[in-house]
Amino acid sequence: MDADSMMAEVFDDGHYASTLGQKIKRSFQLGPKYYSFDIPRYLLGRRALKLPVFDWDALWSPLREFGQKRVNELPLPNGYPEVLGRLRDAGVRLTIPRHRLEGLLTIWWSTREVRGDVIECGSYRGATALLLALLGKINQIDQATLMLDTFAGMPQTSKYDVSRQPGEFLPPEGQVAVIRRQAESLGVADRTEIHQGLFHDSFRNLAGRRRSFAFVHIDANIYEGTLEACQFTIPRIVEGGAVVFDDYNGPCDLGARLAIEQFCAGQKIKLMPLAGSSVWARV
Ligand SMILES: C[S@@+](CC[C@H](N)C(=O)[O-])C[C@H]1O[C@@H](n2cnc3c(N)ncnc32)[C@H](O)[C@@H]1O
Repeated sequence: MDADSMMAEVFDDGHYASTLGQKIKRSFQLGPKYYSFDIPRYLLGRRALKLPVFDWDALWSPLREFGQKRVNELPLPNGYPEVLGRLRDAGVRLTIPRHRLEGLLTIWWSTREVRGDVIECGSYRGATALLLALLGKINQIDQATLMLDTFAGMPQTSKYDVSRQPGEFLPPEGQVAVIRRQAESLGVADRTEIHQGLFHDSFRNLAGRRRSFAFVHIDANIYEGTLEACQFTIPRIVEGGAVVFDDYNGPCDLGARLAIEQFCAGQKIKLMPLAGSSVWARV
Protein backbone atom coordinates (compact mmCIF):
# COMPACT_ATOMS: atom_id res chain seq x y z
CA MET A 1 0.00 0.00 0.00
CA ASP A 2 1.35 3.47 -0.86
CA ALA A 3 1.83 6.17 1.80
CA ASP A 4 -1.21 8.21 0.73
CA SER A 5 -3.63 5.28 0.97
CA MET A 6 -2.23 4.40 4.37
CA MET A 7 -2.67 8.03 5.54
CA ALA A 8 -6.25 8.02 4.24
CA GLU A 9 -6.97 4.91 6.31
CA VAL A 10 -5.44 6.05 9.58
CA PHE A 11 -6.69 9.68 9.56
CA ASP A 12 -10.42 9.92 10.13
CA ASP A 13 -11.34 13.36 8.75
CA GLY A 14 -15.10 12.74 8.83
CA HIS A 15 -15.82 15.24 11.62
CA TYR A 16 -13.99 18.38 10.47
CA ALA A 17 -13.75 20.42 7.28
CA SER A 18 -10.83 18.88 5.43
CA THR A 19 -11.30 19.85 1.78
CA LEU A 20 -11.16 23.42 0.44
CA GLY A 21 -14.88 23.29 -0.43
CA GLN A 22 -15.79 22.16 3.11
CA LYS A 23 -13.60 24.90 4.58
CA ILE A 24 -15.24 27.60 2.47
CA LYS A 25 -18.69 26.31 3.44
CA ARG A 26 -17.71 26.24 7.10
CA SER A 27 -16.28 29.76 6.98
CA PHE A 28 -19.60 31.05 5.56
CA GLN A 29 -21.43 29.21 8.34
CA LEU A 30 -19.12 30.39 11.13
CA GLY A 31 -17.92 33.80 9.93
CA PRO A 32 -20.94 36.05 10.53
CA LYS A 33 -21.58 34.67 14.03
CA TYR A 34 -17.87 34.77 14.87
CA TYR A 35 -17.46 38.47 14.10
CA SER A 36 -20.87 39.75 15.20
CA PHE A 37 -21.47 37.69 18.35
CA ASP A 38 -18.53 35.53 19.48
CA ILE A 39 -15.80 38.18 19.25
CA PRO A 40 -17.76 40.86 21.16
CA ARG A 41 -18.53 38.28 23.89
CA TYR A 42 -14.87 37.26 23.96
CA LEU A 43 -13.74 40.87 24.36
CA LEU A 44 -16.20 41.31 27.24
CA GLY A 45 -14.74 38.14 28.76
CA ARG A 46 -11.25 39.64 28.47
CA ARG A 47 -12.43 42.75 30.25
CA ALA A 48 -14.09 40.70 33.03
CA LEU A 49 -10.83 38.78 33.51
CA LYS A 50 -8.81 42.02 33.55
CA LEU A 51 -6.88 41.20 30.37
CA PRO A 52 -6.06 43.93 27.83
CA VAL A 53 -9.40 44.19 26.05
CA PHE A 54 -8.39 44.14 22.43
CA ASP A 55 -6.91 41.09 20.73
CA TRP A 56 -6.31 41.73 17.02
CA ASP A 57 -4.85 38.32 16.52
CA ALA A 58 -8.17 36.62 17.34
CA LEU A 59 -9.69 38.24 14.23
CA TRP A 60 -7.56 35.96 12.03
CA SER A 61 -8.65 32.67 13.58
CA PRO A 62 -11.29 31.69 10.97
CA LEU A 63 -8.71 32.22 8.20
CA ARG A 64 -6.18 29.96 9.92
CA GLU A 65 -8.57 27.08 9.25
CA PHE A 66 -7.41 27.26 5.63
CA GLY A 67 -3.77 26.57 6.52
CA GLN A 68 -2.85 22.97 5.76
CA LYS A 69 0.76 23.13 6.86
CA ARG A 70 2.71 23.38 10.06
CA VAL A 71 4.81 26.50 10.22
CA ASN A 72 8.01 25.07 11.70
CA GLU A 73 10.83 23.18 10.03
CA LEU A 74 11.58 20.86 12.93
CA PRO A 75 11.98 17.18 12.07
CA LEU A 76 9.29 14.55 12.59
CA PRO A 77 10.13 11.72 15.02
CA ASN A 78 12.11 8.71 13.86
CA GLY A 79 9.78 5.86 12.96
CA TYR A 80 6.69 8.03 12.35
CA PRO A 81 5.47 6.29 9.13
CA GLU A 82 6.04 2.84 10.65
CA VAL A 83 4.07 3.80 13.76
CA LEU A 84 1.16 5.10 11.66
CA GLY A 85 1.01 1.70 9.95
CA ARG A 86 0.94 -0.07 13.31
CA LEU A 87 -1.84 2.21 14.54
CA ARG A 88 -3.88 1.45 11.46
CA ASP A 89 -3.38 -2.31 11.96
CA ALA A 90 -4.53 -1.96 15.58
CA GLY A 91 -7.72 -0.19 14.46
CA VAL A 92 -6.73 3.23 15.81
CA ARG A 93 -8.07 6.21 13.85
CA LEU A 94 -6.58 9.68 14.32
CA THR A 95 -9.21 12.39 14.58
CA ILE A 96 -6.82 15.34 14.77
CA PRO A 97 -6.01 16.89 11.34
CA ARG A 98 -2.70 15.70 9.95
CA HIS A 99 -0.91 19.09 9.87
CA ARG A 100 -1.80 19.74 13.53
CA LEU A 101 -0.73 16.25 14.53
CA GLU A 102 2.59 16.57 12.72
CA GLY A 103 3.20 20.02 14.24
CA LEU A 104 2.61 18.51 17.67
CA LEU A 105 4.93 15.58 16.93
CA THR A 106 7.81 17.88 15.97
CA ILE A 107 7.50 19.64 19.34
CA TRP A 108 7.25 16.37 21.27
CA TRP A 109 10.31 15.07 19.42
CA SER A 110 12.24 18.24 20.31
CA THR A 111 11.76 17.34 24.01
CA ARG A 112 13.10 13.78 23.71
CA GLU A 113 16.18 14.46 25.87
CA VAL A 114 14.07 16.00 28.64
CA ARG A 115 13.25 13.62 31.51
CA GLY A 116 9.54 13.68 32.26
CA ASP A 117 6.23 12.19 31.26
CA VAL A 118 3.72 13.17 28.58
CA ILE A 119 0.26 14.36 29.61
CA GLU A 120 -2.67 14.98 27.28
CA CYS A 121 -5.58 16.94 28.77
CA GLY A 122 -8.45 16.10 26.44
CA SER A 123 -7.82 12.70 24.81
CA TYR A 124 -11.22 11.93 23.27
CA ARG A 125 -10.62 8.52 21.61
CA GLY A 126 -7.01 8.28 22.76
CA ALA A 127 -5.41 8.07 19.31
CA THR A 128 -2.91 10.94 19.63
CA ALA A 129 -1.75 9.71 23.04
CA LEU A 130 -1.33 6.12 21.78
CA LEU A 131 0.75 7.42 18.88
CA LEU A 132 3.02 9.36 21.28
CA ALA A 133 3.35 6.32 23.54
CA LEU A 134 4.35 4.05 20.66
CA LEU A 135 6.80 6.58 19.24
CA GLY A 136 8.31 6.87 22.72
CA LYS A 137 8.65 3.11 22.96
CA ILE A 138 10.33 2.54 19.60
CA ASN A 139 12.70 5.45 20.25
CA GLN A 140 13.48 4.10 23.76
CA ILE A 141 12.32 7.22 25.54
CA ASP A 142 11.67 6.48 29.20
CA GLN A 143 8.31 8.17 29.80
CA ALA A 144 4.69 7.40 30.59
CA THR A 145 1.84 8.91 28.58
CA LEU A 146 -1.15 10.08 30.61
CA MET A 147 -4.56 10.48 28.93
CA LEU A 148 -7.14 12.59 30.73
CA ASP A 149 -10.75 12.94 29.68
CA THR A 150 -14.29 12.27 30.79
CA PHE A 151 -14.37 9.83 27.85
CA ALA A 152 -18.08 10.65 28.01
CA GLY A 153 -18.23 13.89 26.06
CA MET A 154 -17.55 17.51 26.83
CA PRO A 155 -18.57 18.48 30.39
CA GLN A 156 -20.58 21.55 31.38
CA THR A 157 -19.47 24.64 29.49
CA SER A 158 -19.13 28.17 30.90
CA LYS A 159 -20.41 31.57 29.82
CA TYR A 160 -17.13 32.02 27.92
CA ASP A 161 -17.74 28.99 25.67
CA VAL A 162 -20.15 30.53 23.22
CA SER A 163 -19.71 27.91 20.48
CA ARG A 164 -19.35 24.69 22.48
CA GLN A 165 -22.00 22.43 23.98
CA PRO A 166 -21.85 19.84 26.76
CA GLY A 167 -21.78 16.35 25.28
CA GLU A 168 -19.72 17.22 22.19
CA PHE A 169 -16.90 14.77 21.44
CA LEU A 170 -18.93 11.89 22.82
CA PRO A 171 -16.87 8.80 22.00
CA PRO A 172 -18.48 5.44 21.24
CA GLU A 173 -19.61 3.55 24.32
CA GLY A 174 -16.86 1.55 26.04
CA GLN A 175 -14.09 3.75 24.59
CA VAL A 176 -11.83 3.35 27.64
CA ALA A 177 -11.89 -0.44 27.23
CA VAL A 178 -11.17 0.01 23.51
CA ILE A 179 -8.15 2.24 24.26
CA ARG A 180 -6.88 -0.32 26.79
CA ARG A 181 -7.14 -3.09 24.18
CA GLN A 182 -5.43 -0.95 21.56
CA ALA A 183 -2.64 -0.11 24.02
CA GLU A 184 -2.18 -3.85 24.69
CA SER A 185 -2.03 -4.74 21.03
CA LEU A 186 0.46 -1.92 20.35
CA GLY A 187 2.61 -3.08 23.29
CA VAL A 188 2.31 0.21 25.17
CA ALA A 189 -0.08 -0.76 27.99
CA ASP A 190 2.74 -0.42 30.52
CA ARG A 191 3.60 3.07 29.22
CA THR A 192 0.08 4.55 29.24
CA GLU A 193 -2.25 5.68 32.01
CA ILE A 194 -5.91 6.46 31.50
CA HIS A 195 -7.41 8.96 33.94
CA GLN A 196 -11.13 9.02 33.33
CA GLY A 197 -13.23 11.81 34.84
CA LEU A 198 -13.17 15.56 35.14
CA PHE A 199 -9.69 17.02 35.01
CA HIS A 200 -9.92 18.56 38.46
CA ASP A 201 -10.64 15.14 40.01
CA SER A 202 -7.79 13.52 38.07
CA PHE A 203 -5.43 16.35 39.05
CA ARG A 204 -6.38 15.90 42.69
CA ASN A 205 -5.39 12.23 42.43
CA LEU A 206 -2.19 13.01 40.56
CA ALA A 207 -1.11 15.90 42.77
CA GLY A 208 0.34 13.67 45.48
CA ARG A 209 2.47 11.70 43.02
CA ARG A 210 5.32 14.11 42.21
CA ARG A 211 4.73 14.05 38.45
CA SER A 212 6.84 16.13 36.13
CA PHE A 213 6.32 16.51 32.41
CA ALA A 214 8.51 16.82 29.34
CA PHE A 215 5.57 17.40 27.03
CA VAL A 216 2.04 18.65 27.63
CA HIS A 217 -0.83 18.63 25.14
CA ILE A 218 -3.79 20.78 26.17
CA ASP A 219 -6.79 20.07 23.96
CA ALA A 220 -9.97 20.69 25.98
CA ASN A 221 -11.64 23.29 23.72
CA ILE A 222 -13.41 24.99 26.65
CA TYR A 223 -12.54 27.56 29.30
CA GLU A 224 -12.63 25.69 32.58
CA GLY A 225 -10.82 22.51 31.58
CA THR A 226 -8.19 24.50 29.70
CA LEU A 227 -7.51 26.77 32.68
CA GLU A 228 -7.33 23.82 35.09
CA ALA A 229 -5.00 21.99 32.72
CA CYS A 230 -2.68 25.01 32.46
CA GLN A 231 -2.62 25.47 36.22
CA PHE A 232 -1.78 21.84 36.94
CA THR A 233 0.57 20.89 34.13
CA ILE A 234 2.62 23.95 33.15
CA PRO A 235 4.27 24.49 36.56
CA ARG A 236 5.24 20.78 36.42
CA ILE A 237 7.03 21.00 33.06
CA VAL A 238 10.75 20.29 33.35
CA GLU A 239 13.11 22.92 31.92
CA GLY A 240 13.44 22.38 28.15
CA GLY A 241 10.00 20.76 27.98
CA ALA A 242 7.12 22.17 25.96
CA VAL A 243 3.38 22.64 25.83
CA VAL A 244 1.13 22.53 22.75
CA PHE A 245 -2.28 24.20 22.88
CA ASP A 246 -4.32 22.58 20.15
CA ASP A 247 -7.19 25.06 20.04
CA TYR A 248 -5.78 28.52 20.91
CA ASN A 249 -6.76 29.84 17.49
CA GLY A 250 -9.86 27.69 17.04
CA PRO A 251 -12.82 29.84 15.91
CA CYS A 252 -15.16 27.76 18.09
CA ASP A 253 -12.77 27.75 21.03
CA LEU A 254 -12.59 31.32 22.28
CA GLY A 255 -13.22 30.08 25.84
CA ALA A 256 -10.04 28.01 25.64
CA ARG A 257 -8.16 31.00 24.24
CA LEU A 258 -9.38 33.12 27.13
CA ALA A 259 -8.16 30.54 29.64
CA ILE A 260 -4.72 30.34 28.00
CA GLU A 261 -4.44 34.14 27.90
CA GLN A 262 -5.53 34.34 31.54
CA PHE A 263 -2.94 31.76 32.60
CA CYS A 264 -0.11 33.28 30.56
CA ALA A 265 -0.75 36.88 31.69
CA GLY A 266 2.27 38.12 33.61
CA GLN A 267 4.26 34.91 32.94
CA LYS A 268 7.25 34.45 30.68
CA ILE A 269 5.43 32.13 28.27
CA LYS A 270 5.91 32.99 24.62
CA LEU A 271 3.22 31.42 22.43
CA MET A 272 4.40 30.52 18.93
CA PRO A 273 2.25 29.47 15.97
CA LEU A 274 2.41 25.79 15.09
CA ALA A 275 -0.27 24.60 12.63
CA GLY A 276 -3.79 25.92 11.97
CA SER A 277 -5.36 26.56 15.37
CA SER A 278 -2.46 25.23 17.43
CA VAL A 279 0.34 27.14 19.17
CA TRP A 280 3.15 26.03 21.44
CA ALA A 281 5.63 27.27 24.02
CA ARG A 282 8.98 26.10 25.35
CA VAL A 283 9.18 26.22 29.13
C1 LIG B 1 -11.03 17.90 20.92
S1 LIG B 1 -11.26 16.66 22.08
C2 LIG B 1 -9.61 16.04 22.28
C3 LIG B 1 -9.02 15.44 21.00
C4 LIG B 1 -7.76 14.64 21.21
N1 LIG B 1 -6.72 15.38 21.86
C5 LIG B 1 -7.22 14.10 19.91
O1 LIG B 1 -6.07 14.41 19.56
O2 LIG B 1 -7.91 13.32 19.25
C6 LIG B 1 -11.53 17.59 23.58
C7 LIG B 1 -11.79 16.71 24.78
O3 LIG B 1 -11.63 17.46 25.99
C8 LIG B 1 -12.43 16.85 26.98
N2 LIG B 1 -12.62 17.75 28.12
C9 LIG B 1 -12.85 19.09 28.07
N3 LIG B 1 -12.92 19.60 29.32
C10 LIG B 1 -12.72 18.56 30.19
C11 LIG B 1 -12.67 18.44 31.62
N4 LIG B 1 -12.84 19.52 32.41
N5 LIG B 1 -12.45 17.23 32.16
C12 LIG B 1 -12.29 16.15 31.35
N6 LIG B 1 -12.32 16.19 29.99
C13 LIG B 1 -12.54 17.38 29.42
C14 LIG B 1 -13.71 16.49 26.24
O4 LIG B 1 -14.41 15.45 26.86
C15 LIG B 1 -13.18 16.11 24.83
O5 LIG B 1 -13.10 14.72 24.67
